[in-house]
Amino acid sequence: MTDEIDFTMMYVTHDAFRRDLVRLEAAVVDGRAATREVRAGWDNFTDQLHVHHTVEDEWLWPRLTERVKDRPDALALLADMEAEHGRLDPLLEEFGGALEANAADLAARVETLTAVLDQHLEHEENEALPLIQEVMTPADWKEFGRAMARRQGVKGAAAYVPWIIDGISRDDRRRFLANLPAPVRAINRLAWTPKYRRRRLWNPTESGRLAPKAA
Ligand SMILES: [Fe+2]
Repeated sequence: MTDEIDFTMMYVTHDAFRRDLVRLEAAVVDGRAATREVRAGWDNFTDQLHVHHTVEDEWLWPRLTERVKDRPDALALLADMEAEHGRLDPLLEEFGGALEANAADLAARVETLTAVLDQHLEHEENEALPLIQEVMTPADWKEFGRAMARRQGVKGAAAYVPWIIDGISRDDRRRFLANLPAPVRAINRLAWTPKYRRRRLWNPTESGRLAPKAA
């Protein structure tokens, strides 16, 4: 159906957040939390999450609110989305401080952060995306993508694109890259991904790839 919104960009972004928290947990368990690469992985994770939530809060939820003004259930859901973002902010702040101090309770903190973020992402995917599918159009969704790109700028895109495809499945990678203009795919291959790999975020293994976590 041509009038269906394709949520690929949202799903691959959410999956990259989940993947980073799995990597963070592995780093904490292995006693690598104080390494430069893990701290750089954390900084990138919080930057990506900040951009993602800011554009949702400033662009997506307000536009959705206009479309569902007379639907209390939908308005309550959108209030939940904002409240869940608000609940994550102090947790992220506190975790950053604990990581900096290499606190003894990092493992428990990762567990809490993962539970809160997972709950939010699932809630958004299970309830907000179907609402978006119902009341928005593919043209609206494109506009949301443009708002995201404007917020990221070229520097942000240079970090975002290789971060998304780091460890992604072949199918998701194909779907994700198909959403990007050809020149962006080319610059990613030639410049952004090589630079991203050199940063070795989260302290990857010798092969340059993180071992996948057992399901
Ligand atoms: Fe999202």
